[in-house]
Amino acid sequence: MTDSSATFRTVAVIGAGTMGRGIAQLFVQAGLRTLLYDANAEQTTEAAGFVTRMLQRRLEKGEATEAATETAIAQLAPADSLEALAPATLVVEAIAERLDVKQDLFRSLEAIVSEDTILATNTSSLLVTAVAAACSRPERVAGYHFFNPVPLMKLVEVIRGERTENAVVARLTALTETLGHRAVTTTDSPGFLVNHAGRALYTEGLQIVQENVAAPRTVDALMRDAAGFRMGPFELFDLTGLDVSGHVLESIHSQFFQDPRYRPTPLPRRRVAAGLYGRKTGEGFYRYDEGRIVRPPEPAAPDAPLSGAVWVEAETAASNALTKLLNTLGAPLDKASKPASDSLILLAPVGLDGSALCARHGLDPARTLAVDPLFGLESGRRTLMTLPGTDPVWRDRAHALLSRDGVPVSLIGDSPGLVVQRMLATIVNLGCEIAQQAVATPSDIDDAVRIGLGYPAGPLTLGDRIGPRQVLEILENVHSLTQDPRYRPSPWLRRRAALGLSLTTE
Ligand code: NAI
Repeated sequence: MTDSSATFRTVAVIGAGTMGRGIAQLFVQAGLRTLLYDANAEQTTEAAGFVTRMLQRRLEKGEATEAATETAIAQLAPADSLEALAPATLVVEAIAERLDVKQDLFRSLEAIVSEDTILATNTSSLLVTAVAAACSRPERVAGYHFFNPVPLMKLVEVIRGERTENAVVARLTALTETLGHRAVTTTDSPGFLVNHAGRALYTEGLQIVQENVAAPRTVDALMRDAAGFRMGPFELFDLTGLDVSGHVLESIHSQFFQDPRYRPTPLPRRRVAAGLYGRKTGEGFYRYDEGRIVRPPEPAAPDAPLSGAVWVEAETAASNALTKLLNTLGAPLDKASKPASDSLILLAPVGLDGSALCARHGLDPARTLAVDPLFGLESGRRTLMTLPGTDPVWRDRAHALLSRDGVPVSLIGDSPGLVVQRMLATIVNLGCEIAQQAVATPSDIDDAVRIGLGYPAGPLTLGDRIGPRQVLEILENVHSLTQDPRYRPSPWLRRRAALGLSLTTE
């Protein structure tokens, strides 16, 4: 019996490095006979030992039965030549990330395996279509992109090359389910799905730092505590290594022909030149002590009691939320139409900066600050934004007031959409643009980002939670103040906001 039906019995993995051994482990765990080959025979042997140890560890942890572990170990078959891979009906390559090397391999394989064998590449940055172009049957070639560590990162991107047959995509998707992973289908687009969607968090974090709005650790703290992310962009840079992610930033930007949505800033190159890669060099945006991140202590709130009352800009939903908080904090409110001369002035911008709102209301900038009314206001972390000309005495009074109930406060410089509003709006907007470009379906976009990047929700769901109209308002305001096409709203977002539809509506 051959494997030409929906399921595979014998598969092969080529390249027994970090990724290949993980993929092989997943295959044998699912009961597939797995041939493992590496050009370096020692690497094959070492990887086979590694996979066996990983399987035994699962047994020790109670994650697999003894019988299942024995079966899995028996399914792993180290191979000593490419010819030995002839019985495989699926070959996944995880060799060096070089187009010529991958093309040579697939060309050689076509002479060895059967007509129906699927050739899959785990490339993370090459065009799948270009790898396939070396083959006489490019329609059997697809991208099959796993994430590191393979057994734990339960997501796989199935990439449809320009000439990939639908049946190939369908079979890889079905296989992925039997492996216990979630398969998402994407077009052969730069960064595929996960690395494409991930650009927003990184590049907007860099942009905020570039504008001297906030330090990297402040951006991270706000993304964690006010937006509910597990990590901010700079902690992520440190985790993956800026030498690697700095390169990906530039590569994806250039593959989209310098579209400003993907634009990095000069900072990563400078940090890479200094050897500040992150965890692996002991220092990046943070220092690491024996691999553990050393976070600078939270600065204490100033001891600066408020003498007068607080005047909040006239009623909007956002300023009402701020007024409610001030009531809870026991601050006396100045309810006059113009602030009294000794009142602290607080603004609640949505997509605007403090200066624009202050000027709009004809207020005194020396006594004016802005608070993020949408994120971290009640708990987590508040954002307090100074304006050019804000008197430090009033800044300290505002800081002390907002810290009264122990919720930490991050001080930032003037910024349209503060930090969290513009970060989240950018993430949602890019998710929308990916949907608009039909790189993937809305549910695949959301699942890929949630599983692959660990965000609290996918970008479209995140946008629905904030409200498509609110996201659009933030972007339109940021766009109009900065004149930067980076913030132009995606038509996907604009249309659904206009029609009152969910961002997941196809
Ligand atoms: P690695 O360097 O750990 O392993 C590559 C292995 O391939 C080595 O053992 C090498 O001896 C072998 N090899 C090289 N050329 C070969 C050839 N012509 N024939 C047979 N074996 C050959 O590399 P890693 O990190 O496992 O990456 C492999 C592929 O997976 C690359 O395309 C990479 O872009 C992609 N990838 C890597 C991820 C990662 O986090 N490391 C994540 C997703 C994809």
